[in-house]
Amino acid sequence: MSRKITIAIDGYSSTGKSTMAKALAQHLGYLYVDSGAMYRAVTWWAMNNGWIQEHSIDIDQMLHHLPELSIELTTSSEGFMDVWVHGEKITDAIRSMEVAQRVSQIASIAEIRHFLVAKQQQMGLEKGVVMDGRDIGTVVFPQAELKVFVQADAQVRAKRRFDELQAKGQIVDFQEILANVNDRDHQDTHRAVSPLVQAKDARVLDNTQMGRAEQLTLLINWADQAINP
Ligand code: CDP
Repeated sequence: MSRKITIAIDGYSSTGKSTMAKALAQHLGYLYVDSGAMYRAVTWWAMNNGWIQEHSIDIDQMLHHLPELSIELTTSSEGFMDVWVHGEKITDAIRSMEVAQRVSQIASIAEIRHFLVAKQQQMGLEKGVVMDGRDIGTVVFPQAELKVFVQADAQVRAKRRFDELQAKGQIVDFQEILANVNDRDHQDTHRAVSPLVQAKDARVLDNTQMGRAEQLTLLINWADQAINP
């Protein structure tokens, strides 16, 4: 048995981090964790409780109830990850535009980040994990043996997200998605608490012109090098 490592995949919105992280985890037999889904789950929960309104957020109520919040990530038999809040399956609900439009605001709240980072660190205690997000290589697992920073042209990213949502039967507007991608990039890179930055020791992956198979081959190569340095 080869040694188990921790793999951190960070990068901009809609770069396909989750897809590549999932495929890599499956190849290695590792646990896959989508940390963005956890920020989306908190956002959904706060919306569902009426603490997020169009022009305001009741941060006090949110933080007051935060210790009771139970978020669970499970892997289904088909290898898909399901997200649960208090026993309710919200896998699809967290992918809505409503959640996408508020999640970066919620992810900028320090207490929410501390709450989720602690959970993420717990999930990676035994290594053998691939986690994707914005601060995995910088904050959650600064000691990760392999860090990947993913980027791609914004138009290409928006088109991929557009196709993905349309395939799920959602009625979406390309310009709205492009605006959301740019807006989240801006919020994620400019927030005060653990902003999205490339870790010094991260390998950069620009997949603007790269297909999934080529990308996975590259990642497997990097993972092999990190496992057997
Ligand atoms: O839509 P996409 O897959 O690109 O994003 P996501 O991974 O689902 O993350 C949604 C949002 O959660 C991001 O835009 C960030 O604002 C926030 N996030 C974060 O702040 N830190 C993480 N480790 C993961 C996500």
